[in-house]
Amino acid sequence: MRCAKALQLTLAVIKPDAVAHPLILETLHQKILENFFIIRKNDLVWRREDSENFYAEHAGCYFYQRLVEFMSSGPMRAYILAREDAITYWRGMMGPTKVFRAHFTSPNTLRGQYGLTDTRNTTHGSDSIESAKKEIAFFFPEFAADEWMEREEPVFRLGLIEYNEQSKVHTLQETR
Ligand code: CMP
Repeated sequence: MRCAKALQLTLAVIKPDAVAHPLILETLHQKILENFFIIRKNDLVWRREDSENFYAEHAGCYFYQRLVEFMSSGPMRAYILAREDAITYWRGMMGPTKVFRAHFTSPNTLRGQYGLTDTRNTTHGSDSIESAKKEIAFFFPEFAADEWMEREEPVFRLGLIEYNEQSKVHTLQETR
């Protein structure tokens, strides 16, 4: 994958409903790998307060309690992904938030294929440049996005990278 345009970063999450099924998790990972550079990956479990903090903007919505409970109910997987227009591209792959709609209007999207309910909707993705910045920092506090854009983005864009099967992320090619 060589890109003419600058790469963009986004935050993608595979939610507990999908992580609970190893085959679905692996399928989602392969689909991500076919379409993005994987910059970071982290398998984690949220405490309830992590869930409340991340979804604070939805506090007061009728589905908030359900959402925070579900998101802290079991393991999930977070990624920092890169490609041209990564934010829009990942949201397109996910499909509509509401799974009923996804099943009928976008059956080939991830939520259309694997979503169970509006809460158990398989994946999350940042919806803007600002939220990607905030959400990447939430999940990967040690990741220096500005530094990555300056130092690594040009090398990734040239395709001088390799995929590490063990860590399941892309890294810069080693120079011998
Ligand atoms: P996500 O992309 O993680 O962003 C906010 C989440 O709130 C959304 O996916 C859903 O999991 C959840 N959500 C949004 N709308 C509803 C709804 N109407 N009912 C239940 N959960 C919802």
